[in-house]
Amino acid sequence: MAELTNRRIMVAATPEGELSESHFRAEDGVAGEPGPGEVLVRSVLLSIDPANRAWLQGRTYREQVRPGDVMAGLVLGEVVAENGAGIPVGGYVTADGGWQQYAVLPAKRVAPVEVVGDLTHHLGVFGMTGLTAYFGLFDVGRPAAGETVLVSAAAGATGSVVGQLARIHGCRVVGVTGSAAKNEVLTSRLGFDAAIDHRSPTFADDLREACPNGVDVYFDNVGGPVLDAALRRMNTHGRIVCCGVVSQYDTAAPAAGPDGVPGLVVTKRLRMEGFLVFDYAKRYAEGLASLAEWVRNGSLIELLDVVEGLDNAPRALMGLLAGENVGKRIVRVGPDRL
Ligand SMILES: NC(=O)c1ccc[n+]([C@@H]2O[C@H](COP(=O)([O-])OP(=O)(O)OC[C@H]3O[C@@H](n4cnc5c(N)ncnc54)[C@H](OP(=O)(O)O)[C@@H]3O)[C@@H](O)[C@H]2O)c1
Repeated sequence: MAELTNRRIMVAATPEGELSESHFRAEDGVAGEPGPGEVLVRSVLLSIDPANRAWLQGRTYREQVRPGDVMAGLVLGEVVAENGAGIPVGGYVTADGGWQQYAVLPAKRVAPVEVVGDLTHHLGVFGMTGLTAYFGLFDVGRPAAGETVLVSAAAGATGSVVGQLARIHGCRVVGVTGSAAKNEVLTSRLGFDAAIDHRSPTFADDLREACPNGVDVYFDNVGGPVLDAALRRMNTHGRIVCCGVVSQYDTAAPAAGPDGVPGLVVTKRLRMEGFLVFDYAKRYAEGLASLAEWVRNGSLIELLDVVEGLDNAPRALMGLLAGENVGKRIVRVGPDRL
């Protein structure tokens, strides 16, 4: 096999506070050759996820990504070589390939993808965030038709799907985002009943007005002050789906909280439950079948936010944490096919 240059983004330093470009550096190396049972994957698309920032700090479900490591990230790529791995060259896979053009990976660490429509779907609505929305809402939140579902980071990858699934299920849906432009997308394109801005000085009043009958299910993507406010609007026997804490990732010192726990949980008999999408790996096919049908019949719209070029991955992550993205943020690393 001819030698392949492998551009990669390394972690240069562990952030002490807000993430900046100085925490990364780009370098060119040489792509490895697959050993027995391994594949060489060419990255096509890179998923930019809030969790990327949390992995740099540690205290998550995976090992901390440290200075000197290739920055970790979920990749959708093409298998360009294999060595007895049983995965065909030319097939697409998703894998923890990192922020680089090529990755050598053991076959058991790649998941073959049966492509439906655009490749981008497989990092979004048919990928981790779509499945997170599906299982988090239906299995953890368990909404009933007619109930009020509140979701934060509602114009993001997970939140935009959660809100639409709740609408499809017959719920009243209220979104929280950080801008009027995003809220307009939610109400005019995605069928949310209302959307409010967490940056507004009148946020608590806006929340009361948007949820006149209280909140039955709060799908929490952000934690922090939005969770504090939502807790106060929960109805008796409400459910809080703890999906993520993006408001607390971009710091070495996350705030204490939430305020009101356990008092409000006891008096309102709330269920507050965390989950990881990986818990549902055995049921992904079920989730994918439903998501694919809703996309096919037009009731579920995917919002996509594609940034061009691997070198822009650090800026793409910083922008995601700042709320720049509308929908699933992806970095295009290379063409679908060479
Ligand atoms: N449990 C799981 O298995 C699982 C799987 C995937 C993702 N997640 C979690 O789900 C959440 C959403 O992830 P995603 O990939 O869908 O990202 P995303 O929503 O597409 O992007 C993150 C969004 O968070 C919002 N945000 C940032 N800082 C905030 C703050 N201080 N307060 C309120 N909102 C803030 C921003 O939008 P606005 O401020 O404009 O709303 C930003 O666009 C994250 O917490 C992630 O860790 C969990």
